[in-house]
Amino acid sequence: MAFDSKLQRQVFGQFATGVTVVTTGTGADRTGLTANAVCSLSLNPPLVLVSIDLRSTTRDEIRRNNSFALSILSDQQREASQRFATPGPKDFSGLGWQTAETGAPILEGALAWVDCRLHSVLPGGDHEIFVGEIVAGGVSEGGNPLLYFAGKYRDVAPATPPAS
Ligand SMILES: Cc1cc2nc3c(=O)[nH]c(=O)nc-3n(C[C@H](O)[C@H](O)[C@H](O)COP(=O)(O)O)c2cc1C
Repeated sequence: MAFDSKLQRQVFGQFATGVTVVTTGTGADRTGLTANAVCSLSLNPPLVLVSIDLRSTTRDEIRRNNSFALSILSDQQREASQRFATPGPKDFSGLGWQTAETGAPILEGALAWVDCRLHSVLPGGDHEIFVGEIVAGGVSEGGNPLLYFAGKYRDVAPATPPAS
């Protein structure tokens, strides 16, 4: 019998992550989705992966554009995370962004970002694994990450010092 999907969600809900927005396209075709199934895959060549649900509308757009950018969100960008977690065309109004190499929008205020050409797409059950070759990237000047844990957004708390 297949492993219980609700339990799988609970298990990996205990794996605290940052939150990213994966974007693609230019002009009126700009779109994206909130994603935390993201991983730096390889340094040489420089690769990153994001696992995207087969039902995502952004999936086809990434394929069509052959590129995507990934913005790592700060704790000031919870609203952007919610906006990009809603299926369908995305409203970029009120959001600042810039572009780098591919033209995909990089969200203003992100802690860090990469811009990628699509390297490959691998099957992953009810998801697909999009592998991007990083062609540009950068880190902003500080700020705290938006965290996701047990199905909720969280703030970073300073580590408690070890008991002496
Ligand atoms: C914190 C968070 C993390 C998410 N991570 C992913 C992910 O890694 N992959 C994915 O396919 N969907 C993920 N989602 C869900 C998508 O953001 C959501 O399904 C979105 O509506 C997809 O939009 P689209 O169908 O227009 O592409 C996440 C949602 C949240 C709130």
